[in-house]
Amino acid sequence: MQAPIGVFDSGYGGLTILKELKQQLPQYDYLYLGDNARAPYGTRSFDTVYHYTLEAVEWFFKQGCSLVILACNTASAKALRNIQQLDLPHMAPDKRVLGVIRPSSEILGSYSSSHHLGILGTTGTVQSDSYPIELSKFAPEATVFQQACPMWVPLIENGQQEGPGADYFVKLYIDQLFTQSPQIDTVLLACTHYPLMAKKIQSFLPGNVKLVTQGDIVAKSLATYLQNHPEIDQKCSKNGQLQFFTTDNPTSFEEQGSLFFGQKIAANHTDLA
Ligand code: DGL
Repeated sequence: MQAPIGVFDSGYGGLTILKELKQQLPQYDYLYLGDNARAPYGTRSFDTVYHYTLEAVEWFFKQGCSLVILACNTASAKALRNIQQLDLPHMAPDKRVLGVIRPSSEILGSYSSSHHLGILGTTGTVQSDSYPIELSKFAPEATVFQQACPMWVPLIENGQQEGPGADYFVKLYIDQLFTQSPQIDTVLLACTHYPLMAKKIQSFLPGNVKLVTQGDIVAKSLATYLQNHPEIDQKCSKNGQLQFFTTDNPTSFEEQGSLFFGQKIAANHTDLA
């Protein structure tokens, strides 16, 4: 049986990844789920994020998906390893769950000359140390500096990314990052919400600094994965269709979500049952 590729986020952020997937791999069908009723995940405990993410993955499997992308750094940081190592082997050994941290870590080091890398993410992603751990494998020459930006997701989710509050909190966290090392020349937006504020973030960065978002990286990595895994690719339906589900109000999801996705969307509600 063929089914869409599942794309999961705590809320709207994963739509910035789905946008690139659709652009670069338009032939596939995608099923998006935002757990808006329980977002944000960024400040929640390891166990809570793991539990919520596992429920979402089970929901995707019930819809028939064989491949699920956790398009959320926080869920990738706190739930992916457990799901891959503890749950999948007995729950669904033929299905796959992938995240966004590894593909980003594989490429990030190649952008830097100073080998001082900056990571901006949620408190959960930063505290998990997932980026320093992954980057030590793929960019062992690099020194990694992390800064949690807990106010950015609430600002973005409330449509305040262009307001004066955003100026204050963007400057605050950028200053805190560069206080750790003025030599940082590459900064990763390690939260799928942050691309909505990328212009503002760039405007507060020193001119020589490269700002990296994840959509393009994840799409290229997925293309390679599907080429290398024909047994999974065969199970992904290819009619170019998109479906959107939220655990909260679909009307709000349609309004806010289209800002992240860059075009109008029609959403349905699910309670994950
Ligand atoms: N979009 C999620 C990420 O990439 C974070 C949003 C949240 O805190 O729920 O980390």
